[in-house]
Amino acid sequence: MKTIKVGVIGTGGISNAHMGGYQKVKDVEVVAGADIVPGRAKEWAQRHNVPHAFEDYRKLLLMDEIELVSVCTYNRAHMQPTVDALKAGKHVLVEKPMSDDLAEAYKMMRTAQETGKLLMCAIHSRYNPAHRAARHIIKEGALGKIYYAETAGTRRRGIPGGTFIGKETAGRGAIVDIGVYAIDTALFIMDFPKPAAVSAVMNDWIGKHSQPLPFAGGWKWDPEKLEVEEFGAAWVRFEDGRVMVFKISWAVHLNSMGGTFFLGTEGGMQMSPLQVYKDMFGCMVDITPKDLPEYDGFRDEIQAMVSAIREGGPSPVPAEEVIWTNVIMDGIYRSALEGGKEVPVGLPE
Ligand SMILES: NC(=O)c1ccc[n+]([C@@H]2O[C@H](COP(=O)([O-])OP(=O)(O)OC[C@H]3O[C@@H](n4cnc5c(N)ncnc54)[C@H](O)[C@@H]3O)[C@@H](O)[C@H]2O)c1
Repeated sequence: MKTIKVGVIGTGGISNAHMGGYQKVKDVEVVAGADIVPGRAKEWAQRHNVPHAFEDYRKLLLMDEIELVSVCTYNRAHMQPTVDALKAGKHVLVEKPMSDDLAEAYKMMRTAQETGKLLMCAIHSRYNPAHRAARHIIKEGALGKIYYAETAGTRRRGIPGGTFIGKETAGRGAIVDIGVYAIDTALFIMDFPKPAAVSAVMNDWIGKHSQPLPFAGGWKWDPEKLEVEEFGAAWVRFEDGRVMVFKISWAVHLNSMGGTFFLGTEGGMQMSPLQVYKDMFGCMVDITPKDLPEYDGFRDEIQAMVSAIREGGPSPVPAEEVIWTNVIMDGIYRSALEGGKEVPVGLPE
C-alpha cells in the first residue's frame, strides 16, 4: 500500500501525541515538521527521527510528497496554516478547537469545501466507544424524543499555563479549550440539533485572585498572565425546542459540577460512565451496554483520517459538524459580554 506522507505544523506539546498516533498507524510516515520558534522543529525532528525541519511552515507546504498536514499550533494560529495547507492541496487534521473564533472556523470550512480536500478536527472524544454507543442508542429512538441535555466538565484547580492563557495565543480560555469537548460530545450524541439562541456567563475570578494551591500537584499558573476565562455556563436553545445546559471550568471550589446527561420521553442517559435507563415492564430498567472496548484517541482519529484519505473521503470529523460547536461558543462569549442577555446564534453570512 502506498505510504501517506505527513507534515506537522507546530511542534509543541500536542505534536508529540500526534507523532505517537502516526507511529501506531500502518503505511504512514511523518517526513517534516515546522515551528516558528527557532530550533524547536529541528530538535523535535531529531527526537522523532523526522528528516525535514523548517521555521516557516510554507516551506513544508512546498513538499509535493506531503499529502496530510497535522496543524498543532495554538488556537490563534490554526486558521492560516490550515487554509494555506488546503490551498496547497493537502488534507488537514487540525487540533481542537477548530478555531477560538467563529469567522475563522467558517473560513476553514469554506476553504475545505472549495479545494475539495479533507479537513478533520482532532476531537478524539469522537472515538470514545461510550459516546458512539450513546449516539446509536438515541438514533435508534430507544429513549424517545430527547427534550433536555446537560453537558459539563470540571477541573477544580486545572488552569493551564504557557500558550493556553494568553489572548494572542489561545484567544479564549476554558470554554474553547475543554468546553469544546463537552459541547461537541452532546451535539454528536444528539445528532447535531441546530442551535438558535444562547444566554451565558463566564468568569476568571479564581485564576486572577488566588494562587495555585500550595499542596496541589501539576497545575501551576501565573495569575498575572491569565487573560482568558476560567469558567463558563450557558443555556442553549435549539431550533426544535430542546434545551442544553453547558458548564465548564478550569477552576471551581467544587469537585464536580455534574456530568453530561440526556433526558428523553422514554428513557434517560448519563455519560462517564455510560448509564442508560428506560421505562419498561412498568418500571425503570437499566439497559446500559456492557463490555465496551478500550480506545486510543490519537491512534483512532489518525487511523480514521488516513482511511478517509485512501477511500476518497468524507472527513471523519468534518468542519460542517464542528462548526456548530463554534456557533454555540461564539454565542456564549457574545451573551456573557452583554451581561447574560439571550443572543441569537447561527452560521456567519
Ligand atoms: N487533543 C488534545 O488532547 C489536546 C491537548 C492539548 C492541546 N491541544 C490543542 O493543541 C494545540 C496546541 O497545543 P500545545 O499544547 O501543543 O501548545 P504549544 O504552545 O506547546 O505548541 C504550539 C506550537 O505551535 C507553534 N506555532 C505557533 N504558530 C506557529 C506558526 N505560524 N507556524 C509554526 N509553528 C507555530 C508554537 O511555536 C508552539 O511550539 C492547541 O490548539 C490545543 O487546544 C489538544
